[in-house]
Parts: sequence; structure tokens; C-alpha cells
Amino acid sequence: MAAQGRIVWVSGPAVRADGMSEAKMYETVSVGNSKLIGEVIRLTGDVAFIQVYESTSGLKPGEPVVGTGNPLSVLLGPGIIGQIYDGIQRPLKELSKASGSFIGRGITTTPVDMTKKWHFVPTVSNGDEVSAGSIIGTVKESELIDHSIMIPPDHKGGKISNLVAEGDYDLETVMATTEKDGQTIELKMYHKWPVRKPRPIQKRHDPTIPLLTGQRVIDTFFPIAKGGTGSIPGAFGTGKTVTLHQIAKWADSQVVVYIGCGERGNEMTEVLVEFPHLKDPRSGKPLMDRTVLVANTSNMPVAAREASIYTGVTIAEYYRDMGKDVVLVADSTSRWAESLREMSGRLEEMPAEEGYPSYLASRLAEFYERAGRVQALGSPDRNGSVTLIGAVSPSGGDFTEPVTTHTMRFIKTFWALDAKLAYSRHYPSINWMNSYSGYLADVAKWWSKNISEDWLDVRSQAYAILQREDTLKEIVRLLGPEALPDEEKIILEVARMIKIGLLQQNSFDDVDTFCSPEKQFKLMKLLVDFYNKGQQAIKDGASLADIRALPIISLLLKARMDVKDDEMSKLDKLDADMQEQFKSITGVKVTN
Ligand SMILES: Nc1ncnc2c1ncn2[C@@H]1O[C@H](COP(=O)(O)OP(=O)(O)O)[C@@H](O)[C@H]1O
Ligand SMILES: [Mg+2]
Repeated sequence: MAAQGRIVWVSGPAVRADGMSEAKMYETVSVGNSKLIGEVIRLTGDVAFIQVYESTSGLKPGEPVVGTGNPLSVLLGPGIIGQIYDGIQRPLKELSKASGSFIGRGITTTPVDMTKKWHFVPTVSNGDEVSAGSIIGTVKESELIDHSIMIPPDHKGGKISNLVAEGDYDLETVMATTEKDGQTIELKMYHKWPVRKPRPIQKRHDPTIPLLTGQRVIDTFFPIAKGGTGSIPGAFGTGKTVTLHQIAKWADSQVVVYIGCGERGNEMTEVLVEFPHLKDPRSGKPLMDRTVLVANTSNMPVAAREASIYTGVTIAEYYRDMGKDVVLVADSTSRWAESLREMSGRLEEMPAEEGYPSYLASRLAEFYERAGRVQALGSPDRNGSVTLIGAVSPSGGDFTEPVTTHTMRFIKTFWALDAKLAYSRHYPSINWMNSYSGYLADVAKWWSKNISEDWLDVRSQAYAILQREDTLKEIVRLLGPEALPDEEKIILEVARMIKIGLLQQNSFDDVDTFCSPEKQFKLMKLLVDFYNKGQQAIKDGASLADIRALPIISLLLKARMDVKDDEMSKLDKLDADMQEQFKSITGVKVTN
């Protein structure tokens, strides 16, 4: 029987109701006379604590609370791609149409258009045995997405009958039935799934394939794997949003889920206005043809923000189950954590560090655990991945605050943004000394097989130069550069070249915005070769001044912008010129 209680107390988005003994944890409930959507987040006896996803102004004690019997769920089916949702999968456009204002209360709209017809092509036949997760057909959801219609993951499977022929159907059409143990179940093109429950899988794979983003400091120095986890913490203005946009645009994933938790009032509005105009750089089609936006503007209730990351990750898992690589970016998880803190405060829970609830860490863990590269349930065999990347915005860039420190426990790639670098216009301002990737050894095999056997070796040499510069910097600060011998001065010189020619990357430059793995490797190799040749030249008697005067240097620094991805022979030419120029300076010395 559905719970039927009464409101006894209202505090912002938090409501307490008694008479709720029939309610379950995380059940959605209808709150008050205007039937606001809420979720039970604590139960003590017959008292339920409810977070309400809509503005509670005007809500009063005594008004009814009615259980729905269902947990907070999303609707999964064709029509999700291209949508802009709030945190509980309500389409923002439809909402503003229905209510006139940006977001109305107590309005029920469906997450996708249930009357739209989709062209369904069956991939099974009547009489086939299917199991949970199996694909029964496909529809073309957008120019870029073929959408598999799957048996729901909690379905017991059985024999297919009453399968419709290829044709156009809406979401409420029964596409087939299954029979098992004398029970008939109807299959439609959609199903619902509770957002707080990970979708089941067949098997987990090791994350050994890099998610290529075309951003050199990421792919080459601090790579993330498909199905991996990453965090990008940074103070305001250091480049979190720009980096996440670059990943959304360029990463080699088929689907992007972008969760925006507005940093400033207008920032989310910018995303809402901007994103629909972005182009998928590879196909030239709108980026929204493979993107779902979950948007929380600052005027939306905090509870919806809390739900948004679960809504987003459940949608991501759904496309993963079709066998796609999905990347989910959340900007920023700090705003999400703040909504958790606000709800916890309203419920008068015992606060832990900086007022955040003690379960902040476990919630972050639960979120990042939903990343992975997996074999999906059912037939045919297919692999998909969900890569989870969260921005963190610690105030003042202080990485010792709770959201950053707890996040660091659960992610494997850490891109530490640095206000000093951003201030000196070194972008992306990812600090190469404080960042790390736990996937380096795993993805090295991919680079070795696909790009160059030397990849890990060259990368280690490049990184060692940066590390040595970091220690030498201290000496230079105390004693001045003159204190160093030439073979150490050249480390400073090449580190500078690596920073300018490789680590820096301008998102707004047509060529530099994306860098292919081949070009990333060749640029790095040229710089490392320059270093090795330079050291040799000094041994052979050349001076640092000779080396600094080589005309090749300025070309190496500009190559990232001058050489397009399909002009790799230009980099080979630079290589040949570099060899010649080094020969000329050492040659002079030898003949002297
Ligand atoms: N890779 C980049 N290339 C060029 N400019 C960048 C890059 N990253 C950041 N910026 C500059 O820094 C500004 C702030 O970045 P933004 O991503 O909005 O910061 P945050 O989200 O951390 O507050 C951008 O408007 C842009 O001018
Ligand atoms: Mg930002």
C-alpha cells in the first residue's frame, strides 16, 4: 500500500512528514497539494525526511504526502540524445513551455516524446531466446547515434514472440513479448531504471585503452583510460570548464554526458546557449547529436543538483550497455557536494569536515565506482565504457579541502590546475609536478603497439627533463643561472621548450586545439632528441650559446600550431634539419 502521510515541518528543500510507515528509503513521493516531486532520504519510525526537487515556497504542515512505490528513476529509450535535462530528467525546454517561466512546479512532462515514431529494425526473430540486456533491434536516434533497443537488465529473459516487423513505432508500442515459466512480458522501446543503482554488467575489463582527448598534457603525460576516472581541481578561472569542453568535443567517445552544476549564476546559461551551437569536429554535425546535457542553474532547488550526477551516470551506463564509449564530465562536483552539505544541514545531521556530511566520501566513491570498461549483459557480445571526469572547485585553489581530498582517494587521474600557470597564460594550466595518472603503465601498451615502441621511453625522458628542471629551479633561484654548468643549463633550456612546444596548447587555435597521437609523439620525440643532441654537442665542445642560436628552436616551438595532423612529413623535415644544424655546430669545433 502506498504511504499516505502529512507534512509536519518544512525547511527549504527539506520536508518532514509523519504517518509514513509504508514508505521505503529512496522512494519518490508526491509532496503537498501542488504535488511536488520529492524523495525519501531518511526514515525513522513513521517519520520520513524528504528532499524536494522543486521550490517548496508556500508548502505548509498538514498537506498530504503520498508515496509512489517507485525509487527515483530515469526513462531510458530513444530521444534522450540532444536533450537538456534538469537533475531529475525533466526536459528544460518542455518545462519552460509548460510553465511559461524557466522551471515550473508540480508539472509532469515526460523525459522524451512518447508519441514520436522511430524507425525500428529488428535484429532478432520470433522464437529466439533472449536474456537480460540482449539487443532486439536498433533505431537511428540521431545522425551520429545508432540506438540499440535492449531487454531491461532486470528482466528474466525468455523466448521472443509477437515481434513487430521493421517499421515506425512510438515508445508505447509493444515491440515483442517474451515468455518464460508461463509468464508473458511486454517489451517496449524504453524502460526505467533507478538512478542510485548501478546497471548490472557481464564482466569488467582492465582499463588498458586510452581515452584520447587530443590534449597533449593529458594524453602524453597524464593519460586517462576508457572506463577510467579523473579529476580536474582548480581555483576559479584556471581552466576547468575549457578543459572539460575540449574533452567533450574531442575525446574519442561516441556519447558525451555533460553535467553542469552552475558555478556562477550565468555560467550554466552560457553552456545552455553555447553547447547547442557546437559542432562535432570529426563529423561536422551538431555536437548535441551525441550529447546529453544535465543542467543545474543556480535558481534550481539544491536537491535536483544532488540527483543530477546519478541521473547523468545512469544515462551514461545505458549507452555503455549498447557497446559505446561514453564520457561523462561533471562541472563541478564541488557544487554537487555543497548541495549534499545543505541538505544534511537542514536535516540537522552531525557535520564532519567543513560542514560536509560524514557520508561525503562514500557518496563520491559510489559515483566514481560506476566508471568502467565492461562487457555488457546479454547478446550479442559487446564492450562499452563509462569514463567519469569531475571538476572540483576548491575555494582559493586549496587542495586540502574535503571534496578534493576525498575525490583523490577514488580517482586515478589527477589534473592539478595551477593558478600561477594560468596567470602566466600557460594553458592548459595543468601542473606537471602535482598531477598524476595511475593508467600510465596500462595505456603504454596501446601507445607502443599503435604509435611507437619507444613511447614510454621517450615520455619518461621528457618527463625526467621537467623533473630535473624543477629541482634545478631552486638552485637558480638561490644562486642565479650562472651557477650551473652548461649540461645543466641545457636542461632549463629544453624544459622551457617542452613547456612552450608541447605542454602548452591553445584551445582556441584551429590547428592546436586538437593533436593526434602521432603528432603528440613526434613533437615530444623531436624535443627529447634536441636534448640528447644538445648534451652530446656540449660534450663535443659546443657552447650553450651555439645551441641557443640554432634556428631550429623557434620552429620546434611553433610546430604544434604550424604543422597540421596530416602534415607529419613536415615534422620529419624538422628532424632532418635539426640533425644538420647540430652537425654544423659540432663540426665547427672539431675542425678548429
Ligand atoms: N587550453 C586553453 N587555451 C586557451 N585559453 C584557455 C585554456 N584554458 C583556459 N583558458 C582561458 O582561461 C579562461 C578561464 O577558463 P575556465 O575554464 O572558464 O576556468 P574555470 O572553469 O576553472 O573557472 C578561459 O576563458 C580562457 O580564456
Ligand atoms: Mg568553470
